[in-house]
Amino acid sequence: CGIIGHVGDGEAIEPLLTGLENLEYRGYDSAGIAVQNGAGIEIAKRSGTVDELVESLEGTHLGGSLGIGHTRWSTHGPPTDENAHPHTDSTADVAVVHNGIIENYGALKERLQEAGHEFTSDTDTEVVPHLIQYYIDRGHDGETAFRNAIEELAGSYAIAAMCDGDDCLYAARDGSPLVVGIDGDDYYLASDVPAFLEYTDDLIYIEDGDVVVLEPDGISITDANGAPVRRRRETVDWDAEETGKGEFDHYMLKEITEQPTSIAQTIEGRYDPRRGSVSFDACEPETFADIDRVVLAACGTSYHAALYGAIVLRRAGVDADAILANEFGVSAPPIDDRTLVVAVTQSGETADTLGALRAASRAGATTLAVTNVIGSSAAREADEQLFIRAGPEIGVAATKTFSSQAIVLTLLADRIATASTGTSTLPIGDICADVDRLPSLVEELLDGSAAESVARRYRGERAFFFIGRGLGYPVALEGALKFKEITYEHAEGFAAGELKHGPLALVTPETPVVAIFTGTEDEKTLKNAEEAATRGAPIVAVCPDGHDALSIADAHLSIPDVHPMLSGLLATVQLQLVSYHAANLLDREIDKPRNLAKSVTVE
Ligand code: G6P
Repeated sequence: CGIIGHVGDGEAIEPLLTGLENLEYRGYDSAGIAVQNGAGIEIAKRSGTVDELVESLEGTHLGGSLGIGHTRWSTHGPPTDENAHPHTDSTADVAVVHNGIIENYGALKERLQEAGHEFTSDTDTEVVPHLIQYYIDRGHDGETAFRNAIEELAGSYAIAAMCDGDDCLYAARDGSPLVVGIDGDDYYLASDVPAFLEYTDDLIYIEDGDVVVLEPDGISITDANGAPVRRRRETVDWDAEETGKGEFDHYMLKEITEQPTSIAQTIEGRYDPRRGSVSFDACEPETFADIDRVVLAACGTSYHAALYGAIVLRRAGVDADAILANEFGVSAPPIDDRTLVVAVTQSGETADTLGALRAASRAGATTLAVTNVIGSSAAREADEQLFIRAGPEIGVAATKTFSSQAIVLTLLADRIATASTGTSTLPIGDICADVDRLPSLVEELLDGSAAESVARRYRGERAFFFIGRGLGYPVALEGALKFKEITYEHAEGFAAGELKHGPLALVTPETPVVAIFTGTEDEKTLKNAEEAATRGAPIVAVCPDGHDALSIADAHLSIPDVHPMLSGLLATVQLQLVSYHAANLLDREIDKPRNLAKSVTVE
């Protein structure tokens, strides 16, 4: 979900609605705002998109310079008008927006109901305004009531609240991100920086346990006991144009197309193409000297990058595994002070991944965040940080950040292997030579016409299978994930050799099989593809021109010849384009696929 707030000179409505539009990628099943104008709090909220909210506001005037807003991704209760934020107490004297989960909301609700409070939604959030009002009714001022309420909450939250008559916003975080933007006398509050980038890039990240009061003449940040805390004011180097859609119809296509630039940013200064060696700006070799095992924890697309990284690490001679962050607590390999746990997370805010990171710290591991967002929770909580520098990614389906993550992890593998085992078995000189060529090789793929014709030709088939071996396996998983996320068609990724151990039963002439050839044991992958072709499945070969696989292929997505450790990344670009075009032909909501959110801050 996304939070936005405004305090300042001008009307709040414009920055609130702009903020909601900018934040829609964090959740888009309902949206709402609340403004205060001296004559009470006015609320407009509804299920549906921000555009629908904006339309519903036409002809109305929600005046006031103080306001909060929210885009929702449902966790408690379906996306209805009642469940949309902001939530209020019974008299609408307190309005609240919230991200995260209030775990003890059941008990709080019961207690408040016994005290006469009436609830109108199914959400956990609604207890917060009631709780604040409960304390106001007992004679406390707004700030004290807010503090008392926060103290009673268990779970994870970023909360913004306003009370009728108080010329300020109250906010607090524990486990969900919050950032304050400063533009002269205008203050913004948001769950994520892009929310207010049009207005300012000058900001302060709020930390867990902080309570913030934003007033027209300044902000105060204190701990739970009211003692002032100092937080650094900083400037981010993302600009609003970078986070806009530009000439593209969709963020996803813009972000796929940006890969030559994002990859160039990712690798800049991190390897020496002449000497053929990694030269990292962070993660000094000493960090890894005592490491004897690496565990990468991640979710979604980042998990596929983590799988990619684990394979490269093992090839470099390091004991490494990737694990789904949400499985970490129940099935992580042994973790101790000789383990490096790498949290791979684009946003740095995925609750599952943060959970794994925290569990790893408790077990004594060294922790490293590989993330795109400076100032994110993962970056701040891990012992070490490596930024993938892909630039802002808005499309819910991750694209450019996958390639950047996989490249960072590939380079990192060499550093870890050299530092921890004394030697790396990676051919790093050859890899670096080709890393240098990656931006221009990706550029060659971007015309996308072959991907579009594959999408057109196989549109409407029953299911889509993606197979690959070695580094082609995470690429196959990612190809299938992208496809299902945005087309809503059935797609699965398999290790090529595993097809015959079960999934082959699903293969028919109506199930295209996309076979990815990354230059490692391709002859075996070709046999696996032939097993599918024999059952009548159309074969889409992702391989260089002139490859043996073309003898059985019905369609070809060409990738340039490159080191086998990197060719999967080029294959990924082709698969991203196929998914994009297929979804476009099916007229899907490409940037905001149903039921999904860019950053999931609940476990
Ligand atoms: C959500 C998104 C996925 C993303 C995953 C992990 O589920 O829909 O696209 O891959 O979170 O996000 P992260 O920010 O941790 O990489």
